[in-house]
Amino acid sequence: MKQLLRSFRYLKSYWYLAIGSLFSILLATGAMLLIPRLQQLIIDEGIVVGNISAVVSFTMAMIGVALTRALFQFGQGALAARAAQGVAYDMRNDVYDRIQSLSFSYHDQVHTGQLLTRATSDVERVQRFVGRGAIMLLSAVFMIGGSVALLFSINAQLARVMLVMVPVTLVLFAIFARAALPLFRAVQQKLDDLNTVLQENFAGIRVIKSFVREAHEAKRYETVNLEFYDLNIRVNNILSLAFPTIFGVLNIATLAIYWMGGMQVIEGTLSLGELVAFAGYLLMAFFPVLMIGFIVTMLSSASASAVRIFELLDAQSEVVEQPNAIALPPVKGHIAFENVTFRYYEGGEPVLDEVSFGVEPGQTLALLGTTGSGKSTIINLIPRFYDVREGCVRVDGYDIREVTLESLRSQIGIVLQETNLFDGTIRDNIAFGHPHAKDDEIERVARAAEAHDFIMRFPNGYETHVGERGVNLSGGQKQRIAIARALLLDPAILILDDATSSVDLSTEYRIQRALANLMKGRTSIVVAQRVATVLNADQILVLDQGRILGRGTHEELIRTNELYAEIYSSQLQDDRHLMQKVETAGEVTQ
Ligand SMILES: Nc1ncnc2c1ncn2[C@@H]1O[C@H](COP(=O)(O)OP(=O)(O)OP(=O)(O)O)[C@@H](O)[C@H]1O
Ligand SMILES: [Mg+2]
Repeated sequence: MKQLLRSFRYLKSYWYLAIGSLFSILLATGAMLLIPRLQQLIIDEGIVVGNISAVVSFTMAMIGVALTRALFQFGQGALAARAAQGVAYDMRNDVYDRIQSLSFSYHDQVHTGQLLTRATSDVERVQRFVGRGAIMLLSAVFMIGGSVALLFSINAQLARVMLVMVPVTLVLFAIFARAALPLFRAVQQKLDDLNTVLQENFAGIRVIKSFVREAHEAKRYETVNLEFYDLNIRVNNILSLAFPTIFGVLNIATLAIYWMGGMQVIEGTLSLGELVAFAGYLLMAFFPVLMIGFIVTMLSSASASAVRIFELLDAQSEVVEQPNAIALPPVKGHIAFENVTFRYYEGGEPVLDEVSFGVEPGQTLALLGTTGSGKSTIINLIPRFYDVREGCVRVDGYDIREVTLESLRSQIGIVLQETNLFDGTIRDNIAFGHPHAKDDEIERVARAAEAHDFIMRFPNGYETHVGERGVNLSGGQKQRIAIARALLLDPAILILDDATSSVDLSTEYRIQRALANLMKGRTSIVVAQRVATVLNADQILVLDQGRILGRGTHEELIRTNELYAEIYSSQLQDDRHLMQKVETAGEVTQ
């Protein structure tokens, strides 16, 4: 409930629409309350005494009142819809901004499906209540108040009998709402699961097909889908049970009115018109009770969704900019790790253990180590994807926690281990960090990444459409576009994590040569896959289980470091001959 009340803050920018809508609904309700009164007058002043002109004039008045009511009801609907959509629009933006700003550690834990549900279905539910339900609730209260007052004014004795029915109905509704509330929460959670399965399935469709797991995945989807269906049916069962129950109460009440009121008419203490009006107001007193029931279900589903939305909006990003963060001045490229011990989550095993090293501006550092030794982790810490709690990472002497994220990240060009391209053309993808880059700049970086030639082989060249995640490119082609994308930023610090693992050796070698030029004047950190990388590096770090087991140049390490010699001979040695072959072949063709 507290979270739902917080949602009303979103109405602040649309207060004039909300007030307008409230005003219209009060007028429409007021008009509605006049109608049974007019019916009474038609009967008592017209029909019973045989006065035709009274019948005509009251009927005209009734038409006027009905038209007024329709007009205000329309106004109310239009204004409320605008307010509601405005709330939804702002909320979706906030959810999106929050998802964007939350750091990697949050995204490590939360399924994409959950985030999707929150940005869509949950926002929808809150919006429906905040923009519409709340105003309906006020009008319902007004209508009950008005009709009860009018019931008393017609016949207090009958009214008192009827009044007993109102709390009975409210209690009934409370019972139904209590049963439905936990189900509403469950429905949204199930929708999370459904979205998660869908998202994983669509993103991993190739893996699913190649492992012939379609049937298994279809079963998994079927299970969740069925559970979602069951939950919705259960919610609906409760709701559809609620309405006939309330109508039953209403029917009993109407019966009682005609019985007791009819007696009074016969005795002459109540006019016929009053009896009809009374029955009309009774309906009007019950109608909003039904409406409240409906709104209560809306309220409980909205409050379940509001909790989920604010849970996301309140989530603390692990990486936050300090309020007094300064903009990192244009960097020279000095990087230092000082006694960094790092865990991905509290209480976990340290993934980096007392790691210290320094890279001078313009130098190339190669990271070498077995899989899982912490190479990508070191790389993740430099753009501050995760925060270091023990030790410190410095760029040009600045502790990176003291500078703004934008000033830090915009000076680092990074090619991550997993290449991610976006829907759009090749040109759009290369220009991702610099949308206004000129064609010749794009071509220059594409050439450096050895991408220009294969791009030109496509009929549409740079305008070739890359599907979602770059599906119509090969792994190596994607990597080369990712390299070009990073180079276009002209960053002082260039980070390549496994950037060339999917390209063949000769392409890799050509990329290395082109990069050697581009790396001049930049600090580069490269995860070493191939021998060329280590030979060109100014410094090599040998990592094992998060510790630095050796550092130095290739010549130093090959003599002194056992692990290096082993990795070198088992993983890198063979490449060397091939590389020389490529070198001579390259020279021949040139
Ligand atoms: N997001 C994460 N959350 C928790 N643990 C992680 C996360 N990413 C990596 N790890 C763990 O940290 C350790 C180091 O992983 P890292 O990705 O740095 O290895 P790597 O040296 O880059 O390996 P590879 O050569 O296979 O890419 C591994 O044990 C891994 O399980
Ligand atoms: Mg890695």
